[in-house]
Amino acid sequence: MAVNFKGRSLLTLLDLTRDDVRHLLDVSHLLKAERTAFQVNQRFRGKTLAMLFEKRSPRTRCAFETAFGEEGGHPVFLSSSDIQLGKKESIEDTARVLGRMFDAIMFRGFSQDTVDTLEEYSGVPVYNGLTDMCHPTQGLADLMTMEENFGGLSGLNFVFTGDGRGNMANSLMIGCATMGVNCTILSPESLYPDKELVETVMQIASDSCSELEITSDIQKAVKGADVIYTDVWVSMGEEEKAKERVSLLKPFQVNSEMMEMTDNSDTIFMHCLPAVKGNEVTMDVIESSSSVVWDEAENRKHTIKALMVASLL
Ligand code: CP
Ligand code: NVA
Repeated sequence: MAVNFKGRSLLTLLDLTRDDVRHLLDVSHLLKAERTAFQVNQRFRGKTLAMLFEKRSPRTRCAFETAFGEEGGHPVFLSSSDIQLGKKESIEDTARVLGRMFDAIMFRGFSQDTVDTLEEYSGVPVYNGLTDMCHPTQGLADLMTMEENFGGLSGLNFVFTGDGRGNMANSLMIGCATMGVNCTILSPESLYPDKELVETVMQIASDSCSELEITSDIQKAVKGADVIYTDVWVSMGEEEKAKERVSLLKPFQVNSEMMEMTDNSDTIFMHCLPAVKGNEVTMDVIESSSSVVWDEAENRKHTIKALMVASLL
């Protein structure tokens, strides 16, 4: 089905239908080929992007900034020490002002409410560059990377191991279910994903004829996996939980034993990065030929550029 994405925001992957994701991935593959051939375009000439950051970010910041700049646009980086962001001015008012000056806004920070409010009040497309709840642009890059490796998505067996209620697990289960990928969230019971979200994603999975499983049984979860994915055990803003998380999640570490347990020599390893080597993944796995983490990081830029091309032109 033809997709018209113009003017749309991306706040969570729940915003996207299967056709939307298909369209964004198709554009991403095209833009990657253009970039690899050193083709220069100026699609965003005369356009501006406000980039609001409450949390740090090497990849997401660089992906948005270079993608927008390469196309001739003017991205403006604004950290929370540069603007008020709910401190001396309400988010609603900041949104209304930015919406008068910029063609689009991206936000990385804590609360999903902030990015939702920016969208509600700014009148321009808003892109979520990570909140405590989800990380949708990372999810798009991950789907692109899987597609590059396997030639398709439907029917793949994807396993996320680690913090099952974090922003990455949330976005990945939505993205997988949307695209017909069987998804297993492997984590200790105390870190199982939010029940309401699981119910929503179960429905999406049923519509795409895929399965969603939440389990703490390591052997059962990883057997036959095409992808083993993990994320840091302590997300930004949860630093006080570090000690407790390390002991809770140690059995869920991706190591060569877990990779062998898949009984599949073609299993790939994925991680959104940054990685804490020796915690959620061992050095030998992340540096192995099964690891596609650098392609995944590069694909952040192509998928983010595709999102902006689709929504701004
Ligand atoms: N994966 C990711 O979002 O990385 P950054 O924190 O570097 O942006
Ligand atoms: N869950 C991690 C993802 C980093 C890209 C965090 O929020 O810190």
